[in-house]
Amino acid sequence: MRSYSLIAPAKINLYLEILGDRADGYHELAMILQSVELADQVNIRAIGTQTIQVHCDHPQVPLDKTNLAYRAVELMSQEFPDCWAQFGGVEISIQKNIPVAAGLAGGSTNAAAVLVGLDMLWQLGLTQPELQELAAKLGSDVPFCLAGGTAIATGRGEELDPLPSLDSFYVVLAKHQNLAVSTAWAYQSYRSQFSNTYGRSEGVDKSITTEMINPPTRVHSGSMVQAILNKNVAKIGQLLYNDLEQVVLPNYPQVLQLRQAFENCGALGTMMSGSGPTVFALCQSQEQAQALLQHVQSEIPDPNLGFWVTKFASHGIQIVS
Ligand code: C5P
Repeated sequence: MRSYSLIAPAKINLYLEILGDRADGYHELAMILQSVELADQVNIRAIGTQTIQVHCDHPQVPLDKTNLAYRAVELMSQEFPDCWAQFGGVEISIQKNIPVAAGLAGGSTNAAAVLVGLDMLWQLGLTQPELQELAAKLGSDVPFCLAGGTAIATGRGEELDPLPSLDSFYVVLAKHQNLAVSTAWAYQSYRSQFSNTYGRSEGVDKSITTEMINPPTRVHSGSMVQAILNKNVAKIGQLLYNDLEQVVLPNYPQVLQLRQAFENCGALGTMMSGSGPTVFALCQSQEQAQALLQHVQSEIPDPNLGFWVTKFASHGIQIVS
């Protein structure tokens, strides 16, 4: 077959704690990542010319090297030059449903889909660990996007420990369409403001932290992990956490307003995802999610504010055809 169609789901962060600075300029993290059903469709096709062509139906998505899907093809062509020579160039068409520059790993999940698509198109037969290694070269969230579901992510975010799936949650996502937060800026700001308090934030259950820096056999006993293992819906909602809120909320009043609007409307829990600016709320039913959406929409009547209702997903990249 000369073309494949893949589903590339978005992710949210149920937990994001910054544990320390790393020598490579990144930050050591303890995260719990969760896939959601909101997904892009990525079509990948072999073309005769030795070129990389990216198309997308969303005007804000770049079509050049700054697009992670483009860089995924470039990486694969460098890693497997014989395939590049044999099969020719690649055309990637992205149907964008995931909000752009949102903290939902939209670019990362597209890149993960390209890796899976090229593995098939070039008949490479790569193993999951081999794909994960390539994914980590593209970005910290790309390895998670490959496998998806629910997972603990440590290191830069690329070291994964799967958790049992949670399928009972509905999620409301909200994002100001005209707002973007630079991930690099968010981490740098956190480093300059809070690096002296690493591992000592107040009001947060730090059991996950102390255990993350100890042998990995003890990683799974953090409170959030325990709540997930027990499928304790109320507790999961209460334990949502994101260190990056401490720099993003004071600098982006619109995100703070959104976060506060969600706080006061009876969700199981609410949090900013990744470096934002998307804010999400967890709900027990689709009806509750719709009611919550309408409540926040009436409280913040901004035509630029986009809403999406989705569900937890137990999968990462899926091949449709
Ligand atoms: O890995 P990725 O390219 O997605 O990361 C984007 C930016 O986020 C990095 O350039 C870095 O500034 C910041 N980052 C970080 N520590 C991490 C992950 C990302 O500082 N663990």
